[in-house]
Amino acid sequence: MPPAATLHHLSLPRTAPSLGSTSDPKVSQPIRCLRGEPVMSALDISPEEFHSLAVQITDLATRFLTALPTLPSFPSVSGQQTRERFGEPLPESGLKGAALGKLEEVVAMIRPPSPRFYGYVLGSGEPVAALADLLASILNQNVTAWRSSPAAVAIEKQVIAWLAAAVGCSGFSGSLCSGASAANLMALAMARDAKLSGAESGTRAAIVYASSEVHMSIPKAVALLGLGRESLHLVPCDGSWRMDVGALQAAIERDTAAGGKPIAVIATAGTVNTGAIDPLESIAAVSRRHDLWLHIDGAYGALAALASPDRLRGLAQADSLSLDPHKWLYQPVDCGALLYRSAAAARAAFSQTGEYARSFGSDPIETFAFFEESMELSRRFRALKLWLSMRYHGAEAFRTAIRSDLQHAADLAAMIGNTADLELLAPVELSAVCFRYRRAAMEKDLDRVNAAILKRVIERGRIYLSNASIAGRFALRACFVNHRTTDSDVAEIVPEVLAASRDVLGT
Ligand SMILES: Cc1ncc(COP(=O)(O)O)c(C=O)c1O
Repeated sequence: MPPAATLHHLSLPRTAPSLGSTSDPKVSQPIRCLRGEPVMSALDISPEEFHSLAVQITDLATRFLTALPTLPSFPSVSGQQTRERFGEPLPESGLKGAALGKLEEVVAMIRPPSPRFYGYVLGSGEPVAALADLLASILNQNVTAWRSSPAAVAIEKQVIAWLAAAVGCSGFSGSLCSGASAANLMALAMARDAKLSGAESGTRAAIVYASSEVHMSIPKAVALLGLGRESLHLVPCDGSWRMDVGALQAAIERDTAAGGKPIAVIATAGTVNTGAIDPLESIAAVSRRHDLWLHIDGAYGALAALASPDRLRGLAQADSLSLDPHKWLYQPVDCGALLYRSAAAARAAFSQTGEYARSFGSDPIETFAFFEESMELSRRFRALKLWLSMRYHGAEAFRTAIRSDLQHAADLAAMIGNTADLELLAPVELSAVCFRYRRAAMEKDLDRVNAAILKRVIERGRIYLSNASIAGRFALRACFVNHRTTDSDVAEIVPEVLAASRDVLGT
């Protein structure tokens, strides 16, 4: 740290209402900078220029948010057009402010996070969090370790504690990451190390169990860890797309008797297709009985525990749990999280401190390093958006939004049940609704017709649905993880699908 004598206070001109007006002297510390002649690099911009750019960009963002409810659900643009629009060579000389001009075109050609977006499992991008993301990039903290970023580490640890408490896993540690694919990979690395000491001695043959509805990130993780995709044994599901626990038990006994080495079970709390929640408590009991690592992939559904904890009983019995605040906490991408019961297990898998990164000192807070418990070294200040967004709105606002998503799914399922030409293809356990257009006379063509209806729904531009395959049948799928959706938006879904079906069938 430079000696205090070389520092002076920089008072920033205020052009906007002061940030978080507070009289607490500890909070309103002025920003300090090094004394000396300003040295402008070619990349420097003045504070005034920064402010002008920031105003232009937040103005564009404000206009976008204002127009959002009326924007088409997909831009009318082709792949060729997007390539042409953005296919220009890199300018040798900077365009300065004119570079921003093209942002209008970017905004016009994105798929908007509108109130009527129900595709995939994708949160709606809460704007207070987005503003925090801007500040996080300006602060440019590398959240490797406390000594690299004191406030950011403290905030991330606090946010992890909030998340753990929210899903009934108080006392778990963890870290934020890009998303649940990364979290699932880290969890499996921990499982492999806990059961095989894989980090030291390399990978040996091992078996991991998951239901046939498991997310694609799990086979990917198994392959990346060198276990081989064939080591992922898929357990059949019951009629509600939940793992059949009897079949799991039988598979473990069969594989063990044949000399195999089971190491882990992956349960899913909210499958990506139908939102089914595996029987977590029974799976935990089987895992314990056979000394297997239990990872719960809660990317889609676990955060629904904020609003409906009973549906998700058993989360706390996991050894590790993936969450995705960029799904059902409405955070802007990217924001995933891995929680785990044992920080020592995370360190066993990930601790690999090079001499240059070694911590000196004994204070447990100040020597803490996320890179000892994560596969990442350089890490964004992801926690700032979650922290600001949750403090700004409060826990009850998130609970209410999740409850409303659950209700919207139940409402849509009821509307489908009341429509002769539509049928539900799976029970609605969380907020994913899988259904299709049906006409008895056209049974053999239903997959093709529903695929054409989906394409037409998106072309019509009022709503955005995605699709799923349910027992080999093509399903239209609406998933509600969207804080902007209103009851009247939901009421438009069935009429839009029926209108699209008339367009497709010419009736
Ligand atoms: C159940 C489940 N697991 C994992 C993932 C992967 O999450 P991410 O896209 O954040 O990597 C998803 C994404 O939809 C999911 O639904």
